[in-house]
Amino acid sequence: MIVAEGLTRSFGDTRAVRGVDFEVPEATVLGLLGPNGSGKTTIVRMLTTALPPDSGTARVGGHDVVTEAGAVRPMIGLAGQYAAVDENLTGRENLEMVARLYHLPRVEARLRAAELLDRFDLADEAADRPVKTYSGGMRRRLDVAASLTSDPRVLFLDEPTTGLDPRSRQTLWDVIEELVAAGTTVLLTTQYLEEADHLADNIVVLDHGRVVAAGTPAELKRRVGSSVLVLILTSEAMVPSAVAIVEESCGCRAEVSGTEISVPVSGGPAMITRTLRGLEDAGVGLADIAVHEPTLDDVFLSLTTEDGFDGSGSSAPDTGGNGR
Ligand SMILES: Nc1ncnc2c1ncn2[C@@H]1O[C@H](COP(=O)(O)OP(=O)(O)OP(=O)(O)O)[C@@H](O)[C@H]1O
Ligand SMILES: [Mg+2]
Repeated sequence: MIVAEGLTRSFGDTRAVRGVDFEVPEATVLGLLGPNGSGKTTIVRMLTTALPPDSGTARVGGHDVVTEAGAVRPMIGLAGQYAAVDENLTGRENLEMVARLYHLPRVEARLRAAELLDRFDLADEAADRPVKTYSGGMRRRLDVAASLTSDPRVLFLDEPTTGLDPRSRQTLWDVIEELVAAGTTVLLTTQYLEEADHLADNIVVLDHGRVVAAGTPAELKRRVGSSVLVLILTSEAMVPSAVAIVEESCGCRAEVSGTEISVPVSGGPAMITRTLRGLEDAGVGLADIAVHEPTLDDVFLSLTTEDGFDGSGSSAPDTGGNGR
């Protein structure tokens, strides 16, 4: 639904976006991650026909964003980084106005506005107050609601949950998941890695206007390191024999802290099964078991440091955990 090829855009001497490629399949979510100034908003503006690229092309729903902008616009919804609602109108009036701008008949516009207010928890007395009396989170929700007015097939959300409290964030996540299940394609930018992890089918990490990594959340996490198996024993007395069994089955060194034993999961699920069976056979009691994946925060920090990502795959995890 979205294809970007070699997208490039400068502002004077600032090379904001430098040859970015990606694709977003229909009914999936792409998470665009990157530090401040890495080019996220500039990409969103180019894809939503607000800003022409210097070079490269982009297609949304099969239409070129420059030469067929008029075909792209009716298909898309956009909630920009800064709310675009009218302060002096009420929430309801804002949504009805947007609906009318999309040429919905008056009655339908009213119904659509009511439905969106309800969906974003703005249906109580807030709906009929001027937006200038809204809190930051309420404005943000209204802005996202407005982007859904035309039931767009492709939705662009630039940092949609910045400034939202946990409940509002969850509400928005739920809405996004429903939309995607119904076939909507979503491109969202975010600073919250947990959000990308939760919502995105695919992630593109940007740094200084370039793509420094791309893949599913799980793939990106695998690049920074392997998962870790954590075992908590019921008794400290069993620790030495348990460590021997664990080290034998994983072929690596275990870390021990009190009754907690941690080892990298070097051989995949088979290694975990082997370890647990060995422990059971030896009569070692387990109070808890967990497998920790590296988080996207680890990924982000390792990819967007000063040195940047070198792209050679040297951070691949294959070498981990072979202490023998
Ligand atoms: N209209 C503009 N005029 C001049 N420079 C601009 C303009 N828009 C963006 N830039 C520059 O382009 C670069 C990328 O900006 P952009 O807004 O795309 O980053 P971003 O990834 O969205 O950052 P943030 O996380 O802070 O929102 C920055 O260096 C910014 O200063
Ligand atoms: Mg931005």
